[in-house]
Amino acid sequence: MDQETIVFSNGDFVRYADAKVGLMTHGLQYGTGCFEGIRGFWVPEDNELYLFQLKEHYDRLTTSAKILTMKLPYDTAKLIELTVELCRRNTIKGDVYIRPFICKSAEDVGVRLHDAPELFAIVPVPYAPYVKKPNGLDVAVSAWRRADDTMAPPRAKITGLYINSALAKSQAVADGYDEAIFLSSDGHVSEASAANIFMVRDGALLTPDPSQNVLEGCTRKAILTIAKKNLGMEIIERSVDRGELYAADEIFLTGTALGIVPVASVDRRTVGTGTVGPITTQLRTIYEQCVRNRDANYHHWITKVYA
Ligand SMILES: Cc1ncc(COP(=O)(O)O)c(C=O)c1O
Repeated sequence: MDQETIVFSNGDFVRYADAKVGLMTHGLQYGTGCFEGIRGFWVPEDNELYLFQLKEHYDRLTTSAKILTMKLPYDTAKLIELTVELCRRNTIKGDVYIRPFICKSAEDVGVRLHDAPELFAIVPVPYAPYVKKPNGLDVAVSAWRRADDTMAPPRAKITGLYINSALAKSQAVADGYDEAIFLSSDGHVSEASAANIFMVRDGALLTPDPSQNVLEGCTRKAILTIAKKNLGMEIIERSVDRGELYAADEIFLTGTALGIVPVASVDRRTVGTGTVGPITTQLRTIYEQCVRNRDANYHHWITKVYA
């Protein structure tokens, strides 16, 4: 992390090097916090940095905080303003990943959500491609089950909940796969470690509905909109069986960090014909246009930094 990067921390723009937290901070010790991951796409021809789905991300952060009985110090409009200001102060002219978060900043012993102050910060980092195999991941259904809403709600992007993702992801990598697919505690397909999952079967687009302990992804929402509006596809949101993964014509993952990434195999069974499917290709192409402000239907998802 570049120590000279300007971050927004507890109400001020300061150098990363000066924005310190104590070793005993609750957010660090107990995972009591929530966060977002937002991307900005630099388009040199336009001399512009396009921030994607800021409203969707900040609305979700507000909901995540509410679930944790925390309150963001600003509304979505102000958070968008601060994020643009942050990018300008850093003169960002390249792809960027922006990490806003709120966490409990008490430094005593005793896990809780009540009676503890909060820290809010926004940190920009240069974007580095998250996935090394954009043309097809080999995934495995994980022995780790997705955390259930009765334990800690996955619909909130909660810091501590990411231990669930980390365990599954590292086990998948240790076993020779690229990514893990969670089943929910009742045995239905949920999502990947940091991405939602979609399947194409007989021309319809199928994805687990929000009650399957998924994070309600902003990219998921974008893809559902694009599939319906641009491709006129039938969308099915319901519980999905593991066996349906093996029977799918196409499978892809969606997430802010990774974008749209095809799945090549599930549990060593080739997906479809073994090549990137036509629906995945079309959706990915349209999405890539959207994020760079090249699709007139979706300008409302874009915030310009320098205009
Ligand atoms: C567990 C999990 N599911 C799904 C997603 C995809 O969400 P989004 O498209 O909003 O990035 C993420 C992304 O961070 C995630 O961590």
